[in-house]
Amino acid sequence: MSLILAFETSCDDTSVALVDTDYRVRCNLISTQPDHAAFGGVLPELASRLHLKNILYLTEAALNQSGTSWDDISALAVSVNPGLIGSLIVGLSFAKSLAWSRGKPLVTVNHMLAHIFANFIDHPDIEPPFLALVVSGGHTELVHFTDYTRFAVLGKTLDDAAGETFDKTAKLLGLGYPGGPVIDRLAQSGDPAFVPFPRGLNRKDNFNFSYSGLKTSVLTYVSQQDTAFLELHRADIAASVQQAIIDPLIAKTLAVAAQYRIKTILLAGGVAANTALRSQLAAKAGQLGAGLHYPSLDLCMDNAAMVAAAAIPKFRAGLFAGLEVNAFSAKGTKLL
Ligand code: KG4
Ligand code: ZN
Repeated sequence: MSLILAFETSCDDTSVALVDTDYRVRCNLISTQPDHAAFGGVLPELASRLHLKNILYLTEAALNQSGTSWDDISALAVSVNPGLIGSLIVGLSFAKSLAWSRGKPLVTVNHMLAHIFANFIDHPDIEPPFLALVVSGGHTELVHFTDYTRFAVLGKTLDDAAGETFDKTAKLLGLGYPGGPVIDRLAQSGDPAFVPFPRGLNRKDNFNFSYSGLKTSVLTYVSQQDTAFLELHRADIAASVQQAIIDPLIAKTLAVAAQYRIKTILLAGGVAANTALRSQLAAKAGQLGAGLHYPSLDLCMDNAAMVAAAAIPKFRAGLFAGLEVNAFSAKGTKLL
């Protein structure tokens, strides 16, 4: 059993975690940045500065709270893409300087893979092959794993991501940022059939997603209603938008699962916190004889424990990064 010290700074959450190679979490500290709320979205420059302010303090706190010394740590892990480049560089530079000064190997991790591997923290016994549906603020992907480090992206969004659609429609409805949690809560008392919003790329043989049509449709619909009507039917509209977002996610996940005879499905990313998506996908996967796993709510959000979890297969395989390694913002699930 070895111990990994991991860092996550790809967007607006600074997180430091200590996780052993049996996926047991010793600590997972997260510092969120409420400062962005006033801007209606994440301000990249501000995010980088706050990471820089928080990361050393969080690292000291993680070591002290868990009673861990540098001798106990076998490797460092850090997410290096995708994300805001300034934010990623803060985490990577910090991890590199510690790797160099403490003489520890460095494992670089793709942030979307980290979301997928968050599932292993609660379920270390998950085995390939499995299918992952990754749904976050920037990504909507179906990734087929034939082994822990071998995978192919079978479907992805052609325009906007599912989380972004939650966020943008919430903004239109005056519900604030981030939109997912508010829409999720409101939708629980609304009628999902109230507005028949369009489902993108409806064909069964197409595993890609498209949400730009839905976004335009919500914009048109909202602009045609008066304020009193919108106020009265906020929950119904939220439920209708949410159902239009999750229907294609469920349909395409099941279509891929059926075609590739998948028995294990992993839900991952911020949108994996969505109550309706979790319950409806679990029910439909069950009908197909497949099991669905999703991370606990706190592990769906950006955190460093998931970065450590994704680093474990690379650590076991000795896939370490040199100090010349760089961060990059390009979207997608890629193994580094
Ligand atoms: O993975 P994540 O924390 O950050 C990215 O890497 O993008 O995901 C954030 C996204 C946001 O779009 C947020 O609105 C969405 O996850 N989200 C939700 C819920 N909680 C967070 N979407 C739907 N339902 C939720 N309960
Ligand atoms: Zn994320």
